[in-house]
Amino acid sequence: MTKLNVQSRVPVVGNRLTSRLSELGVVVAVVRRDGQVSIQGEASEVAGWVAGAANFQSTVKSRFDEILETKGEPVAIWPGVWLVQLPPAKRRRVSRQERFEDDVLLAGLLIGQEFVGSDQFKRTCDLNEFDIQAAEAKARSASLIAQGEAVRVGRLIAWMQDDAAELETQQNELKTMSSQLCESYEELSLLYKFTTGMAFDRPPDSLITDVVQELRQVVGLRWLALQLCDDDERMEETRGRIYLAGDLKCEESVLLRIGRKLIDEREPHDPAMIVDDTNTLGIPVLPRLSENLLVVPLSDDDRMIGILFGGDKLDDSHISSIDSKLCSSLASSVAMYLENRMLYEDSQTMFLGTLHALTASIDAKDSYTRGHSERVAMLSRDLARAAGLDPAIVERVYLAGLVHDVGKIGVPEAVLCKPGRLTAEEFELIKQHPAIGSRILSDIRQMRDLIPGVLYHHERWDGRGYPEEIRGEDIPLFGRLIGLADAFDAMSSNRTYRSSLDHQKVLDEIERCAGAQFDPELAKYFVKMDFTRFFAMIRTHKAQTPVREVKQDNGYGYDPEEGYAV
Ligand SMILES: [Fe+2]
Repeated sequence: MTKLNVQSRVPVVGNRLTSRLSELGVVVAVVRRDGQVSIQGEASEVAGWVAGAANFQSTVKSRFDEILETKGEPVAIWPGVWLVQLPPAKRRRVSRQERFEDDVLLAGLLIGQEFVGSDQFKRTCDLNEFDIQAAEAKARSASLIAQGEAVRVGRLIAWMQDDAAELETQQNELKTMSSQLCESYEELSLLYKFTTGMAFDRPPDSLITDVVQELRQVVGLRWLALQLCDDDERMEETRGRIYLAGDLKCEESVLLRIGRKLIDEREPHDPAMIVDDTNTLGIPVLPRLSENLLVVPLSDDDRMIGILFGGDKLDDSHISSIDSKLCSSLASSVAMYLENRMLYEDSQTMFLGTLHALTASIDAKDSYTRGHSERVAMLSRDLARAAGLDPAIVERVYLAGLVHDVGKIGVPEAVLCKPGRLTAEEFELIKQHPAIGSRILSDIRQMRDLIPGVLYHHERWDGRGYPEEIRGEDIPLFGRLIGLADAFDAMSSNRTYRSSLDHQKVLDEIERCAGAQFDPELAKYFVKMDFTRFFAMIRTHKAQTPVREVKQDNGYGYDPEEGYAV
């Protein structure tokens, strides 16, 4: 049997309890399996005689297990003398080998009035060479348990034990709850912070960088990395990238190799894994970088998106299941964000593809306007950017540019593609296209904000445009931006009625018409723009256009007085 450190195993009872028990006539004592009884605190002389008597101790030794197992029922050692087990004031955690209950216990020594004058009392006096009459007088003055009350006192102590046990259970439950609450709070606040920050207008690159850095700090890891898979053509910005936070002295290429191996070896539905010994993973360089490793797969339903992995706690402890749970929760949120972002990207691609197809099919009705909407969209976006507009607005301007002529779908093809001069009635039909486009878009909630660009792109700064003949800043900004881009494209590309104009001549014309046809401020930004990409698009579209004879001016294109109305 393991030798025990008796000093550290002695149970204690609080001073308050000792004093209360004393008032009840109960003496607190430490009782050992070998029969030794040591009184704690102050007690009467009688208690000292009893506890020190060799024949009392031999009886205690023989009945030790009975005292240990009987809670609340006083065990009679002598007639009129009982021992009853007491709860210790504090239970400290002990290992299986150190359980003090096996060898030593805390007990109440109950000496009843019936003990005085009994045979055992006289025998004790004889052994100690006391004068019996003097001893009896001393014993009667001590606080003894009234005759027949020992069992009742024992029950009181039992209730006290039950209350103490209940209190301890409640305290432990409270402690556990409070610790769980703290962990949940930490987890929730971190999750809240990031999930609220996972807006689509936030670039994934910056979001993942923040998540990895913050998570490393909260979990207390020396380093944490998040690697994304490279097998998806979406998410160009983050595809195949690794994000590292913390101190890891190795090349990024080494970390990438580790990440790829971990991705290859994990399945999408695998739970987080805590590796206490990285030697077991069979990744040669890893044990030199970290002893403990946390590996959390990022996945959607059936495929891996990436992997979160990190190692070594800053306080040299092991990575815990709580750390793993927190990282898993955040990894799930990041995976969900990335998945949503990819779905969003898919829907945007499809949406834009559909718009391009629609507008290209309208432009293609007349081979001379092939690519017109795409070029106007690009020029409008460049102009909006040059004017310092918000990036989100700039993208909406692009879309508005793309659909600005969508109303031409409602203009008879014979009029739209008529090679010769238009009659006044025919021109009136052409002038309907902004309003038709506006009506088409008004049925699509997501495109209603583009309507000003569609409806007002033929208005003029001087109020001589159409359809509403509004002027200056009354013309919505989208209309002014697209109107300028539209006129520039019309002048710079071939039309049924003329060839394209020289670039410098077009720029001169824009400057000349600034303040008449065009917003003068926007015109200043426009003429300074880089048109390299625009002319590359013109060449591409021209290559796709069949060669046709340039017709004469049909009357609604370029007019030196009226400007451009295409
Ligand atoms: Fe138009």
